[in-house]
Amino acid sequence: MSAEEKLLALLGQRYSVGPKYLAPPGPNVAQWAQAAALALRAPDHGGLRPFRFVVVGDAERPDLAALFAAGAQQRGQAPDEIERARARAYNGPGLAALVARVRDDVPDVPPHEQWLCVGAALMNFMNALHLMGFGAKALSGASVSDPAVHTAFCGPGEQLANWVIAGRPTRAAHPKAGTAASPALSNWQAPQA
Ligand SMILES: Cc1cc2nc3c(=O)[nH]c(=O)nc-3n(C[C@H](O)[C@H](O)[C@H](O)COP(=O)(O)O)c2cc1C
Repeated sequence: MSAEEKLLALLGQRYSVGPKYLAPPGPNVAQWAQAAALALRAPDHGGLRPFRFVVVGDAERPDLAALFAAGAQQRGQAPDEIERARARAYNGPGLAALVARVRDDVPDVPPHEQWLCVGAALMNFMNALHLMGFGAKALSGASVSDPAVHTAFCGPGEQLANWVIAGRPTRAAHPKAGTAASPALSNWQAPQA
């Protein structure tokens, strides 16, 4: 198998790995930086770079946990749900936030094109982690729309798109059960008059 074929085969084996199956260590500073550099290869109409990644280090997890717990309390959740929200801040040995900055004032680049760029950046970021041997998963949930979490991560015009957790997979990654492959490619034919 050529190096290119091996790489293609490896990319075809990227599946999400949930928090239960991720062990330390998470990516180090250089590995996060390399993944973010690959994310910059996402197609970006107008060069707006509508995304950035923010790594949450181990030392910052307790502060994030406090934010998650306060948010759950604000939403009127029960004590056990508040504790589950707090625990989510410790999900994944490595944790990064994907922050999107999608503008609605760029005539040639409507928001949906910018979101495509954000999604492509996420994919390249996760593929880079996968090629480095990490398991990873994109997660959202109530925390991404929590006002205090928003303030803690986002500047003007930004929004928290999702979290990315990453670590060493403790079991082989596999497709999600029950997901049948549906064709993602066809040939266009002109509509019959
Ligand atoms: C922006 C975004 C947010 C997501 N949030 C969640 C989530 O909160 N919980 C979850 O189980 N899956 C979530 N997913 C889906 C998983 O990350 C994953 O893509 C899905 O389980 C399919 O697995 P696969 O990546 O192996 O195909 C999210 C995906 C994206 C792109």
